[in-house]
Amino acid sequence: MRRSVVIGTGSALPARAVSNAELAEKVDTTDEWIVERTGIRNRYIADDSETTSSLATGAARAALAAAGVEAGSIDLIVLATATPDQTFPATATLVQAALGCQGGIAFDVAAVCSGFLYALGVADSMLRTGMARRALVIGAETFSRILDWEDRTTCVLFGDGAGAIVLEAQESDDRTGRGVLATRLHADGNHNQLLYVDGGVSTTGTVGKVRMKGKEVFKHAVTNLSSVLGEVLGELDMTADQIDWLVPHQANARILDATARKLDMPAEKVVVTVDRHANTSAASVPLALDTAVRDGRIKPGQLVMLEAMGGGFTWGASLLRM
Ligand code: UT7
Repeated sequence: MRRSVVIGTGSALPARAVSNAELAEKVDTTDEWIVERTGIRNRYIADDSETTSSLATGAARAALAAAGVEAGSIDLIVLATATPDQTFPATATLVQAALGCQGGIAFDVAAVCSGFLYALGVADSMLRTGMARRALVIGAETFSRILDWEDRTTCVLFGDGAGAIVLEAQESDDRTGRGVLATRLHADGNHNQLLYVDGGVSTTGTVGKVRMKGKEVFKHAVTNLSSVLGEVLGELDMTADQIDWLVPHQANARILDATARKLDMPAEKVVVTVDRHANTSAASVPLALDTAVRDGRIKPGQLVMLEAMGGGFTWGASLLRM
């Protein structure tokens, strides 16, 4: 059967790292509070010369190099972001132009922190149905641009960055072969006011700032993530102990712990980057994936579960064999 196989991963971060201590110089917060409540110690913040498309292009180039393929062979780019360079055209087309590949499909998806899972689901479907053969799936954000630096309940939580994978359609054995094995995606728009941006093109005509009812989001995150992870495992008739690595959306170390506990997964099998990168929204899952591939933890043939939950609410999970 035809499967979408990850043949390369890459990531890119802004040059400037900002520690909790540095943040505490201008925001009414402390390193202790941030570490205790979230596990975050550091985040990267883009300067004026760094944009979502430039970070995405950097991540894409790294993924192409890891895969050992030319940009010209890419016939699909799906880019997840909530912070596009421009309202239109899609940031994916800016990346396409920067990479020098033409004529394929390129578009953005908007599912905030779940964006990479949505992008992966869409790209996987298109590869399996033959609409494309080799795809770049990218999560990229400059979330710092939509943070209210006067709101300590949100501004300490987020960072900027990008992660990418090259996905290729290959013939693969049913269960033992490489590739995306199953993806489940969900949304519940009834909760759109718990995590949102208070502006937009057709309402205020402004970009707006992030607003979040953190405690409510936290509770939904643990419940929804546990449930969608169960769905993916159920679809494949598998159990959590068969998973080699859990690569979760990096919003809060306490959410990672709670989700892993519900799955009965030991902490050593959970990839954690929230301490270094903070919450980079759509970039967080591919950034964490690339980190663990490059440091040698995730190896070819291993089973990796990706999951995320974000504004909307949207949430999803995907199990793949690397
Ligand atoms: O990526 C999309 C998904 N997003 C998430 O999953 C985020 C989910 N939510 C969370 O991670 C947590 O709810 C937060 C980290 C946002 C907040 O943690 P919490 O344990 O729920 O804290 P809280 O909102 O209940 O605030 C506790 C206290 C409050 O003070 P009082 O009212 O108890 O006196 C806040 O004012 O902490 C205070 N506080 C802060 N203090 C120092 C809130 N933010 C800060 C801060 N520094 N930055």
